[in-house]
Amino acid sequence: MPTTPAPIERFVRDLDLLLARKLAEPDLLPGAGRLLGALIATDDWLPDAYAAPDPERYTQYLLYRDPAARFSLVSFVWGPGQSTPIHDHTVWGLVGVLRGAELSQRYRVSADGSPVAIGPVERLEAGRIDAVSPSLGDVHRVENAFDDQVSISIHLYGADIGKVRRSVYPPEGGRKAFVSGYSNTEAAPPFVLDAADKAA
Ligand code: FE2
Repeated sequence: MPTTPAPIERFVRDLDLLLARKLAEPDLLPGAGRLLGALIATDDWLPDAYAAPDPERYTQYLLYRDPAARFSLVSFVWGPGQSTPIHDHTVWGLVGVLRGAELSQRYRVSADGSPVAIGPVERLEAGRIDAVSPSLGDVHRVENAFDDQVSISIHLYGADIGKVRRSVYPPEGGRKAFVSGYSNTEAAPPFVLDAADKAA
């Protein structure tokens, strides 16, 4: 088991305390966003194994999963020019750009089920935090802002996102169920905090 980077440990401990307050989403997300902002303020802790792009598609490495599955922390690695399909999350999510930059287009789902773009494409530079959720707006398409370099963002979700049943919205219309899983090759999440650590 690799050593858990200190910034992840701090983040998990602080988020644990915040979640213990059982706040409603509008009260939780600002605090969780501040913690994620502190995590991505320095870019010297993500091990290379979880910063490696795949030439074929964007990768999503599970970094930490709460033992009670209240949240998951994921490293999204974008190779040059890579993008997601239009998709939803069904749970709250916070995206913090660690390295490079992302382009994000939000959508609403029309009565016939097809996605309709809302507003302009937004550029998220390193250090920026974006939020999604069914109540805030849950459907978007994200891409690497660069076609010649890797970008990385750290995502926090209010569930074990790799197991959540959600939807993609293909260009030809309709919606397709999907479960994202994770790109990790190891069976368990790489980083854990034992109970003694958490209580410290
Ligand atoms: Fe997303």
